[in-house]
Amino acid sequence: MSDRPLSAYPRVRPRRNRRSPAVRALVQEHRLSAADLILPAFVHDGPGGPEPISSMPGTVRHSRASLLEHAALAHSLGIPALAIFPKVSDDRKSVDGREAWNDDGLVPEMVRALKRELPELLVITDVALDPYSSLGQDGVVADGVILNEATIDALVQQAACHARAGADMVAPSDMMDGRIGRIRDHLDAKGYHQTGILAYSAKFASVFYGPFRDALDSAPRGGADKKTYQMDPANSDEALHEVRLDLDEGADMVMVKPGLPYLDVLHRVKATFQRPTAVYQVSGEYAMLKAAAQHGWLDERAAVLESLLAFKRAGADAILTYFAIEAARWLQEGGA
Ligand code: PBG
Repeated sequence: MSDRPLSAYPRVRPRRNRRSPAVRALVQEHRLSAADLILPAFVHDGPGGPEPISSMPGTVRHSRASLLEHAALAHSLGIPALAIFPKVSDDRKSVDGREAWNDDGLVPEMVRALKRELPELLVITDVALDPYSSLGQDGVVADGVILNEATIDALVQQAACHARAGADMVAPSDMMDGRIGRIRDHLDAKGYHQTGILAYSAKFASVFYGPFRDALDSAPRGGADKKTYQMDPANSDEALHEVRLDLDEGADMVMVKPGLPYLDVLHRVKATFQRPTAVYQVSGEYAMLKAAAQHGWLDERAAVLESLLAFKRAGADAILTYFAIEAARWLQEGGA
């Protein structure tokens, strides 16, 4: 003992609970597991194999065959769900995006193949027109405006097409008003009571979607400004309003997107509604982490696992991340 007076010793020492891996494990509040992850995957309809995506190193546009292999790997690592994003050739794009509800299109074809090969893996499909729109817009455009009701009429067809193919959940990412209720009613009317809806409820007009639009070749080419439907990054009360509407209209899960720049929104959504809440670590977030890792500026494994754990801490139940496969492997090796 030194000659320090007793009063100089803190009675409460938070560091005692950090002394060893064992005690740290006991007091750990949040844990990441492969079961929290949703793997987003791109698939193209061209000939040939997987195509690299330059702004998302390590990620590819899959061929039909390589998508099935990738899905099998995800399933074997304990990842419960896959979200498919199609890149279709230009001759399948139009102003009204009608390829979106073609039963012989790429997405329904892949949904059927995935459900046949891997029936336990959940398949989530994106409901929005941008991959099929010659203008790269999520909806139907007329005179520089995205038409809300005409777009919903199209999305309802698209959602039903995905449900017929066997999708477990449809995920409207378009941000039209009232689409969740209309899609729910239509699916129910057609007998698809068990097809779930994962609503992109608080989707912000973000620059962090840039690499995704490269991946799908879906960058807006005029028509209208995405800010007229996606949310203003300055707003979070409005995010709660959007989430409330989607829950009232029958969404089974809601989503906040992007992820890390919007952790505050994620936290408010979960704290306010206590409903299943997903978050999307989007393409630009992936690109930032990858770029730093490739330069040797960040330890990729540690940085990725820390970012995913941050989502859990903020309240996410499910995390869409392009790192899902790597993260599941790292967790198996004993990570986070
Ligand atoms: C469009 C859609 C986008 C993303 C998912 N669905 C892009 C957009 O709204 O322009 C972005 C995902 C990502 O950046 O990883 N329906």
